[in-house]
Amino acid sequence: MRQKIVAGNWKMNNDKAETKALIKGIKKAIKKLSLKNTRVIISPSYVNLSAAIKKADNSKIEVAAQNMHQAKNGAYTGEISADMLKSINIETVIIGHSERREYFNETDAILAEKMDAVLSNGLEAIFCFGEKLEERKSENHFAVVESQLKNALFHLEAANFKNIVLAYEPVWAIGTGETASPEQAQEMHAFVRETISKKFGKEVADNVSILYGGSVKPANAEEIFSKPDVDGGLIGGASLKAEDFAAIIKAI
Ligand code: G3P
Repeated sequence: MRQKIVAGNWKMNNDKAETKALIKGIKKAIKKLSLKNTRVIISPSYVNLSAAIKKADNSKIEVAAQNMHQAKNGAYTGEISADMLKSINIETVIIGHSERREYFNETDAILAEKMDAVLSNGLEAIFCFGEKLEERKSENHFAVVESQLKNALFHLEAANFKNIVLAYEPVWAIGTGETASPEQAQEMHAFVRETISKKFGKEVADNVSILYGGSVKPANAEEIFSKPDVDGGLIGGASLKAEDFAAIIKAI
């Protein structure tokens, strides 16, 4: 049975004190939830990962990194390696977020290398993909998503998928308040699951969690999460407020 996951991508927000305060608020807000078969993940900035892990200790909250370089080490100023993340007990890494693709020129080929680095280091990847507005308007969104999956994931083995979470994030819905409709989300998630099934088999496809990201809020979370192929959400803005993030978790 695939897991339900609500993950908060904090992006470039919160200093150390704000990180600790937000985690304290989330812990309090979800304390009485059973969260059976549900994972709660937060993803602070690199500099706050250790403080976050310490603050989240003995709670149901997991801590993930927002990115990682594909090289083992070397002359990559400003970058972070798998070994560095493992040394502070980080086990999950967001890979391929649209902002990394857009602002830092992370191509499908680079993301394929990053996936190899995550998996060869025994880490778990939350792999992000999704179309831009013009690609949806031109009805090219299925071809774009299929290409992103093929170019970054199809060199992998079926066994790798026990350490992969997929996150569909239509770029036009990220940070815009323009959420994909539950029907649009379900349609793409079903397409992604079928694409994975054709390549890696039905068992892999049935067990991989596919999250939706893009303006998920307390008001729309329940309807989006109610769709059969939506296994949770990757939350941006709403994850920065403990009560809003907890409300979204309650909706799963
Ligand atoms: O990674 C999640 C993020 O891109 C979604 O952002 O603010 O639209 O929830 P937001």
